[in-house]
Parts: sequence; structure tokens; C-alpha cells
Amino acid sequence: MISPLRVGVVGLGWMGQVHARSYSRLRQHYLDLPVDPVLVAVADNAADGRLAAAVAAYGFTDVHADWQELVARPDIDVISVTGPNFIHRDVGVAVAQAGKHLWIEKPAGRNAAETAEIADAVRGAGVASAAGFNYRNAPAVELARQLIADGRLGTIQHVAIRLLADYSAHPEGGLTWRFVNEYAGSGVLGDLVSHGVDLGRHLVGEIEEVVADTATFITSRPQVSGAASHFSRGGGGPLGDVENEDYVSALLRFAGGVCGTLESSRTAVGEQCTYGVEVHGDHGALRWDFRRMGELELCLDQDHQNAAFQTRFVAPGDGELSRFQPGSGIAMSYDDLKVIEAHRLVESIVTGQAVGATIEDALTAARLVDALAESARTRRWVSV
Ligand SMILES: NC(=O)c1ccc[n+]([C@@H]2O[C@H](COP(=O)([O-])OP(=O)(O)OC[C@H]3O[C@@H](n4cnc5c(N)ncnc54)[C@H](O)[C@@H]3O)[C@@H](O)[C@H]2O)c1
Repeated sequence: MISPLRVGVVGLGWMGQVHARSYSRLRQHYLDLPVDPVLVAVADNAADGRLAAAVAAYGFTDVHADWQELVARPDIDVISVTGPNFIHRDVGVAVAQAGKHLWIEKPAGRNAAETAEIADAVRGAGVASAAGFNYRNAPAVELARQLIADGRLGTIQHVAIRLLADYSAHPEGGLTWRFVNEYAGSGVLGDLVSHGVDLGRHLVGEIEEVVADTATFITSRPQVSGAASHFSRGGGGPLGDVENEDYVSALLRFAGGVCGTLESSRTAVGEQCTYGVEVHGDHGALRWDFRRMGELELCLDQDHQNAAFQTRFVAPGDGELSRFQPGSGIAMSYDDLKVIEAHRLVESIVTGQAVGATIEDALTAARLVDALAESARTRRWVSV
């Protein structure tokens, strides 16, 4: 009989529900999974009916308003930290110190110092960890990484990373926790750029130096009360100050001299999840866009000039595609990337060897985010 993997979730908003679904779906996609995930308890301090409905829908046995009660339970093996950024450090450290495995959303802390505290606790306790860098789990990204590692693009010259979104483009978008530094730590830097630097590292290697410029285009927003998500409107209430950046542009230097550019915005009208990366080598190139997740644009095996890109649909054998679909061209979803993330965490727990993005990757991303912020503040290159 396979043993249960008893799950707790802290924060049942968008991401908490995605994590809950991922644990529930694990055995359907990984028939050989050596554990049986069981949703034991959820902690969330929102007092609305939506939450009760979600708890019932996912089948959690118990609910806590106080996350500390959940973390203290002896009948939980792994905990997802999916609340707002300002609770990540306290919950993440407590989870590890309680000897439980940790799946934590990005940004893991509000800054690198908080993320280092979580990483120290994870190392000290010897528990497994996973960090929410889901884009690296896309089969097309795995294929891209393999092609780069195999030298199919030649020597990598330059990389362009773009993460453009419109989730904060409306001036009446409510002043949620995301715009207040005490709660969020940073703006688009922690929210989207943490994904971008992780993608860059995963594909090409470590980023050693950065220089950045930031801007806040919408400097005040209507205040909101009660539970408000990413996309909530504030209405006609009093305005409050936006404390963090809407936009960043940056130059990056990777190990080995590879050059990079990075651009990210949360107020880009016309852009929804325009998250992608383009990599150029001295005899090949590739590009990937999350909105066309199953496609990799490839320019390979041609002469240097007048070479054309072709579309390669991911196929069984590329990354984890075959766990989700039997053939090429059948689309995977965002949630599927989280099922893969959950599976990698289970592999890490069962084998004792880290598989997939861990708290160490979250720490590196946090250091890069801090370096980008410092560069924008001091208006100079910063070494990481
Ligand atoms: N990996 C990704 O692609 C991705 C996407 C979206 C969000 N995120 C990250 O996930 C985290 C959550 O974002 P979200 O969009 O799900 O937010 P959300 O606002 O939808 O949900 C947060 C939940 O946490 C609850 N909460 C707040 N304070 C709490 C407390 N003290 N104890 C317990 N619960 C508490 C809220 O009531 C809410 O239900 C953030 O860190 C965000 O950066 C990651």
C-alpha cells in the first residue's frame, strides 16, 4: 500500500486553489506516484462565503483561520505557502522548523534577506522544497534548455526576456497588497521579474551583473477593503499611494559574457501574459511565448544568413508532455505546469534529491531582484 502524503495549504486564493488542484490531480497524471496526496487542512483568514465554498469543493477535512495552528498539526507532511508575500517568511520558516516539506510561491520572501531566512530553515531542517517557478516546467522550455545545452544554437550571444501584463493597467485597479511594500516587498520586480530571471538562469546560466531602470506610471489607486485579488477594481473610494514599480527595463550579463535584456510591466495595455524568452547563438536561435506554450520557434541547422524560424510543436518525449497529452499539438494548460511542479516536489521528498526549482532558486532570484532594485536606485551596474 502506498503511504499518504498529508497536505496543508496556507492561503486559498488563486494560487492556493491551483496548488490544491495540483495535489488532487497528481495521481491521475503520474499513475506510478509513490504516495497518495490527501488534502488535510487549509488556513485562510478571509471571512467570506467564497472561501467556504472553495474549501468544500477541494475536500479539505479541516479549516483554520490561524496558519500557526495548521503548521503545528502533527498529521501534515507538506505545506503550500500561497498567501500574500508578507506572510511567506514567517510561514515558510515555521513550516521548515516543524519538519514539514515546503512548496512556496514566488517571491518566496519580500526580499533576499527574508528568502535567505526561509532557505536557512529548509537547509537546517533537511526538508524538501519547491518554489513556484512554473514556466520552467513547460515542455517547450525543457526542450529549449536541452537544445541550448547540446550546443545546437552554438555559442550563446544574447538573450531577451519579456514579461508584459495588463493586470494593473486600469487606473481604478484597487490598491491591493501588491502595491504596498510592507506587504509585497516590491512591485513587478518580485511578481513577474522573479519568473523572468529564473527562466534566464534555467536556460542559459547564472546572471552575474545587472543594470536597471524602473518606473511607476500609476502612482495612486483607490483603496480596497476585504478580500481583493490581483484583478480587483477599487471604485470611487479614497486614493492611496502606489509604493512600488510598475515597470522595469534592464541589461543583464550572464556567466561567460552572454548579454541579456529584460523588460517587464504590469501596466502594459494590450498585453496579457506576454511572457517569453528569445535566445540567439552564433549559428542558431529559439524563442518561446507562454501564450503559445506548446510551440517552440526554432532556427537551427541553416547557414548564418537568411535563415528562417520554424515552429516546432512539442511532442511526447519533450519534457513532461506525455503525462498530460498523447500527441503533439494538443494544448497543455497553466495548471498542468503546477501539477509538474507538485510532482517534482514529491520526487524530491521521496528520493531526498532536489528535483525542479527549490528554495535555493528562489533565493538566487530574490538576490537578482534586489540587485535590479539597487541598480535602479543607484543608477549603476550591480554585481550579484
Ligand atoms: N507562480 C505564479 O505564476 C503565481 C501566480 C499568481 C500568484 N503567485 C503568488 O502566489 C501568492 C498568492 O497570490 P494570489 O494571486 O493567489 O493571491 P490571492 O490574493 O488571490 O490569495 C491570497 C490568499 O491568502 C489569504 N491570506 C491573507 N492573509 C493570510 C493569513 N495571514 N493567513 C492565511 N491566509 C491569508 C487571503 O485571504 C487569500 O485567500 C503571491 O505570493 C503571488 O506572488 C504566483
